[in-house]
Amino acid sequence: MNILVVGSGGREHAIVWKIAKSRKIKKIFCAPGNPGIAQLGECISIKSDDINALLEFAIKEKIDLTVVGPETPLTLGIVDSFEEKGLKIFGPSKNAAEIESSKAFAKKLMQEYGIPTANYKIFKNPKDAKDYIKEQNFPLVIKADGLAAGKGVVICKTEDEAKDALKLIMEKKAFGKSGDRVIVEEFLKGEEVSFLAITDGKSVVPLPPCQDHKTVFDGDKGPNTGGMGAYSPAPVITPKLKQEIMNSIMIPTVKALAKEGRPYKGILYAGLMITNDGPKVLEFNCRFGDPETQPIMMRLKNDLVDVLSAAVDGKLSKIKLNCDNRFAMCVVMSSKGYPGDYEKCKEIKGIDEAAKLKDVVVFHAGTAINDSTLVTAGGRVLGVTAMGVGVKRAINKAYAAVSRIQWDGAHYRKDIGEKAVR
Ligand code: AMP
Ligand code: GLY
Repeated sequence: MNILVVGSGGREHAIVWKIAKSRKIKKIFCAPGNPGIAQLGECISIKSDDINALLEFAIKEKIDLTVVGPETPLTLGIVDSFEEKGLKIFGPSKNAAEIESSKAFAKKLMQEYGIPTANYKIFKNPKDAKDYIKEQNFPLVIKADGLAAGKGVVICKTEDEAKDALKLIMEKKAFGKSGDRVIVEEFLKGEEVSFLAITDGKSVVPLPPCQDHKTVFDGDKGPNTGGMGAYSPAPVITPKLKQEIMNSIMIPTVKALAKEGRPYKGILYAGLMITNDGPKVLEFNCRFGDPETQPIMMRLKNDLVDVLSAAVDGKLSKIKLNCDNRFAMCVVMSSKGYPGDYEKCKEIKGIDEAAKLKDVVVFHAGTAINDSTLVTAGGRVLGVTAMGVGVKRAINKAYAAVSRIQWDGAHYRKDIGEKAVR
C-alpha cells in the first residue's frame, strides 16, 4: 500500500515509525514531515492545511490510505474532500470534528446525552459573561469556543482574573473568531488523563491510557504547552475505571454523534479529570495526542495499518489490540523560550548516541536540516521515548537518552513519570 501521513510533529513521526513496520507498505509519504520522518519515508513539501494540494497529490500517487495527524485539516474538512473523490482517509468528517473545533458544541452534546463534564454556561456577549461571573465561586475556568492552539483556556483564581480573561478572549480577540463565544466552566479537581479510543462509528476500542504533562516547568508550574511529556499506562486508570470511562463517556459520545447525524470515525481523544465524583470530560480532541502518541505507538503490538484500515472500512469489531506490558514514556525537549517566543537554528548533537540505547526512539518534531546540520526549528523539538519494565526503569532510560542530547538552550522537564511512581 501507499500511505500518506499528514503533519510534521512528534506525533506524526511516531505514526510513520509504526506504519513503517507494517508488511503491507509499498511506500510512505509524509506532508510536510520533518528530518526524522525523512529517514523512514518521503517528505513532500505540502502544508498540512493545504487540502487541495494534498488531494491532488493523493490522486496522482495513488495513495491507498491517508492518515491525518493535526486537527486543523480535519476541522477544515480534509476527510470530506478525500471521501468525495473515493479516497480512503483516517479521521472524522468536518461535522464530526466539531467535537474539538467548537467547545460549545461539545458541551451541549455532553449535556444533552448525560455525558459527565463540568457545569458550564455559554456566552456570546461579554457583559452577560461579566455579570454571571460575579455570582460564581473561584477558581473558575474560562474557555474560548474555537481552536486556540491549546492557549484558549484560562484558570481564573479571582473575579479580576476572570474579567481579564474575558477581555483577552472576547474583546481583544486574542484567538480571533474562536473567541466569539466563551464557555465559563466549573473548576474540576483531580488527576488529568488522556483517554484515546479508535472508532469506526460503531465499535469503540480504547488505546492504552496516558498521562500528559501540560505545563512547561517541573511540578506542573508555568504556562501550558502542547505537552512536555507523556507516559503510558496511566496507573490512575484501573481496569474498573477504564470500563466506566468506556461506558459513561466514550461509547455514549460516539453514539450521540451518530444520532446527531455526524457519524464519527478516527481517534476520539477525551481529556479527562478523574474527580472524587468519577471521570469528567475537560475537552474532546478529534485526533491523536501529541506527545501521547509517542508512548502509545511504542507499546502497540498490532500492525497499525491493519487497525487504521479496519476503522476506515467499518470493520473495527474484527480487531483486538495488543499492547506491550512494559511502561513507555516520552520526554519532550523544547527550545529556550517555548511556549512563548523561542530560539531557532541551534545545532542539535547526540541524537545518534541517544538512539543507540535499547528500547529508545528519538522522535523529531521541530527540527530542520540547515547546510547538512540538524538544527532546532520549533518550540517542541524532540520527543525522547523509552520503554522499560516498570515505571522507574522507563524513566531512567528516557533520561539517560535525554542526557546524551544537547543544543544551546535545550529545555526539558525532569519530573516526567513521577506521578506514576507515586
Ligand atoms: P482544555 O483545552 O479544555 O483541555 O484545557 C486545557 C487545560 O486546562 C486542561 O488540560 C486542564 O489542565 C485545564 N482545565 C480545563 N478545563 C478545566 C476545568 N473545568 N477544571 C480544571 N482544569 C481545567
Ligand atoms: N497533548 C495534548 C494534545 O495533544 O492535545
